[in-house]
Amino acid sequence: MTAIDVTAAAVTAALSIIDGNLHEFGDEYPDDTTVGDRYPMRAGNVGWTTSFWPGMLWLAYDLTGDEKYLTAASGHVGSFAARVDGRVDVDTHDLGFLYTLSCVTAVRRTGNPVAKRAALAAADHLMSRVLHPAGIIQAWGDLRDPAQRGRTIIDSLMNTPLLFWAAEETGEHRYAETAWRHAAQLRDHILRPDGSTYHTFYWDPVSGEPLRGETEQGHADESCWARGQAWGVYGFLLNHRHTGDESFLTAARRCADYFRAHLPADGVPYWDLSLTGVERDSSAAAIAACGLWELGERDAAGRILGSLISDYLSGGNALLRHGVYDKPKGVGVDEGTLWGDYFYLEALTRVTRPGWTHPW
Ligand code: GLY
Repeated sequence: MTAIDVTAAAVTAALSIIDGNLHEFGDEYPDDTTVGDRYPMRAGNVGWTTSFWPGMLWLAYDLTGDEKYLTAASGHVGSFAARVDGRVDVDTHDLGFLYTLSCVTAVRRTGNPVAKRAALAAADHLMSRVLHPAGIIQAWGDLRDPAQRGRTIIDSLMNTPLLFWAAEETGEHRYAETAWRHAAQLRDHILRPDGSTYHTFYWDPVSGEPLRGETEQGHADESCWARGQAWGVYGFLLNHRHTGDESFLTAARRCADYFRAHLPADGVPYWDLSLTGVERDSSAAAIAACGLWELGERDAAGRILGSLISDYLSGGNALLRHGVYDKPKGVGVDEGTLWGDYFYLEALTRVTRPGWTHPW
């Protein structure tokens, strides 16, 4: 089979799993990760990953034009509107992940007014997490929680696109200015001189002074968590796309160089780039494949995607196996992950649909 045939077959296989899940999940949401390669269901629309399921349905619609996916994806808008209206588990910067994939895409594809209102409400709530004078968006928890106050994380670069969309939609530049300033703070402090990244970084919430890097899901404060580095590749690039700021493009390239230089032969990283011989994180590979593709590093992206297709497909109802959610806490280790599945399907969509417009 040619590489084109292999990717086309991988799309068909992924859609077949999505069809099964469409039936199995109904209006509900699978959990963050599989247990023994199958997703348990979660209780309600909570957590940071629920939007990856409607996100996959929108990708399936873009891949096929089949209205069943459009109907199913649109069917999730009400749940996300109720979540932001009811302030259910929204003390998080991950409103970006949640509302970009579930509601902004619905607005772009169908002009859904409920989705537009919900996505703007989510953007406003995200704005309420900005800490001045540091000019950063706090990542997790109540803004008064001393353990979380002043803390941001590399993943947040994927959450700023919601604010760039809100700026375009409303004509109010404050959303974009906030996103730009936040990304600039991460460029200056979370990205290290050697091109690796901290997972999390603290600022003094009163003076705005940058304080220290720490890890949460990585091996050590000074190591480089693989998924964080992948978020850095794709996230800095997306912030470049939205602002035209060349320094973000440079930051994305530096993250990419470090990431590529620390890959094992098959292109799928160990869960922390400072380690070898431990579990791989296929989700970091899928995220990086999307970022590298967008960066124009198509050979590197294609190699990673090829490895995922040949050696990392799930035998259960996930698309990928061998992901790691949080190794230090022993959560979701060597399992399928909802975000890994989403970015794998996004990578397949990018490769098989030239000219496709990504949701970020
Ligand atoms: N954004 C959380 C994670 O990547 O695990």
